[in-house]
Amino acid sequence: MNKREQLYEGKAKKVFKTDDENLLIVDYKDDATAFNGLKKGTIAGKGVINNKMSNLLMQKIEKEGIPTHFVKELSDRETLVKKVSIVPLEVIIRNIAAGSFSKRYGVEEGVVFEEPTIEFSYKNDELGDPLCNTYHAIALKLATADEMERIKKYAFGVNEILKEFWKGCGVTLVDFKLEFGRLADGTIVLADEISPDTCRLWDSKTGEKLDKDRFRRDLGGVEDAYAEVMKRLKENI
Ligand code: TMP
Repeated sequence: MNKREQLYEGKAKKVFKTDDENLLIVDYKDDATAFNGLKKGTIAGKGVINNKMSNLLMQKIEKEGIPTHFVKELSDRETLVKKVSIVPLEVIIRNIAAGSFSKRYGVEEGVVFEEPTIEFSYKNDELGDPLCNTYHAIALKLATADEMERIKKYAFGVNEILKEFWKGCGVTLVDFKLEFGRLADGTIVLADEISPDTCRLWDSKTGEKLDKDRFRRDLGGVEDAYAEVMKRLKENI
């Protein structure tokens, strides 16, 4: 599949056209940002890890009956995906209090919920990705009511699949962010990536952070943490 002109460059990935109008190539970078791009850096080898991890997890999710944009891994950093129009929502599932939830509600990090939670942020850098609920998303015409129902169902489904899988790797899935897109025919599919950039992953025994919080919070050992979760994933997939 020939890589044609660049369509878009995001914070962590570039997207290219191909000869097929329904397919795109995603190219993962080592660039890392946090706090809406205020903090910038590089995590050596991150692009390769995120590409491979995301692809393996998407294939697992697809097998369980949730459609994804994944088509084929082309190289260490490049993947062929179905073209979607992204629903401009960050869909966040939490199993344990951490990050912005802990800050917003004054709950200590590590408090385990009886049931997972879901929240949405309107993807808009200028507005700082404000939180929104289902009614807001519908009023803003970001998605229809039917699409919101499907997105919620898929997001909780992904949580069950990933929670169980990471448990087998000795890793606790604390929370994560998903993005969904529409194919040309309107079908909702899971898109973007699933990686240590977009998930909080804690070592089940020690509680050590094995994700991008090491970068966000200047904890050091960022590259080692990404390599460690990738190693565990490969041993258990
Ligand atoms: P938060 O606690 O900062 O709201 O983050 C919740 C989860 O979403 C966490 O796993 C990190 C992920 N996330 C992203 O993938 N992108 C983002 O821009 C933000 C703010 C969070």
